[in-house]
Amino acid sequence: MNEVLNLRELEAAAQAVLPKLAWDYYASGADDERALRRSVEAFEELRLHYRVLVDVATRNLSTTVLGEQLALPIAIAPTAFHKLAHPDGELATVRAAGDAGTLMILSTLSNTAVEQVVAAATGPVWFQLYVYRDRAATKALVERVEAAGCRALVLTVDAPLLGRRERDVRNRFGLPPELGVENLHASGYAPVPSAGAPESGLAAYFAELLDPALTWDVLPWLRSITKLPILVKGIVRADDAVRAVERGAAGIVVSNHGGRQLDASPATIEVLPRIAEAVAGRAELLLDGGVRRGADVIKAVALGARCVLVGRPVLWGLAAGGRAGVGTALGILRRELDLAMALCGCADIASVTRDLVAP
Ligand code: FNR
Ligand code: LAC
Repeated sequence: MNEVLNLRELEAAAQAVLPKLAWDYYASGADDERALRRSVEAFEELRLHYRVLVDVATRNLSTTVLGEQLALPIAIAPTAFHKLAHPDGELATVRAAGDAGTLMILSTLSNTAVEQVVAAATGPVWFQLYVYRDRAATKALVERVEAAGCRALVLTVDAPLLGRRERDVRNRFGLPPELGVENLHASGYAPVPSAGAPESGLAAYFAELLDPALTWDVLPWLRSITKLPILVKGIVRADDAVRAVERGAAGIVVSNHGGRQLDASPATIEVLPRIAEAVAGRAELLLDGGVRRGADVIKAVALGARCVLVGRPVLWGLAAGGRAGVGTALGILRRELDLAMALCGCADIASVTRDLVAP
């Protein structure tokens, strides 16, 4: 990898090495890809009203999220199929998370089994859950990830069906036969073949196997089968956030799935203040979507997030350089966050307060 100064350059480095099928899958948003662009633009539109003459000679970026100690308020979003980016796949990603002192959320749709990922981890691993129509298989999966040592469940609720990513439709996206959904072998749900029908194979997988009839009842059900804290991922409305809290969610991930589901969805940073106000500290808030600069992290924390998650930037790093490449992605964000905090007059995360965005 040549010298990479920022995440845009890392993105270009990834595009240069990835086959088109994988690049398009990682890059794409739904439909016209407006939500994807909007998320980045919404961060760009916010200004930081920096404080001056504060001693910032030493900065402390560390924080806690649901009791986990993190070296910085940036963690790894769940993304599917890391072996499309690099042969080391999720093992490279989880090692890089540990190197950076942060946590990884492992996708249900990983190319490496959860036990192997946890065994390679030096930091916390949380598990992102998709609920299958086959509830027995879902229950077995939850029991398995708890036994493996994952420390929280992140229930994704914005994908009753997969959004239509036109690039994947055109490519008839699927997995090569040697890669599969490694956590679902026992149930027979491992293969994601290329589509025969005029759509993406992953969209067909979702439509056939995942449960589009989920309601809020899923939260009490999950709580009855696991002791793990549960976060609900994919919320953009204050009333939905309150429903999640009322049903025992410990955390909420304000997310529109990186613009891959409903293309008309709002940017997450836009809706965060309303959600923070409605939740009023009863659950911890995380946010993802469009975080591309360290200053974006300050904006999210100022408006109520305990930490942000990054999805595509991690995949860019993984593609460009495996474990070290993911380290590059996280290192760029860390360096930018550290400098932006100094320039904002913030020596620690506690001093990243709302007035920085809304004086
Ligand atoms: C995702 N995302 C996702 N979310 C989830 O809950 N389960 C999953 O398996 C996946 N898979 C996935 C694959 C790819 C290629 C992408 C880009 C995204 C969504 C992800 O967790 C996160 O919400 C977004 O990626 C955040 O936006 P950025 O950081 O990519 O802009
Ligand atoms: C995606 C699914 C797997 O966004 O969450 O591709």
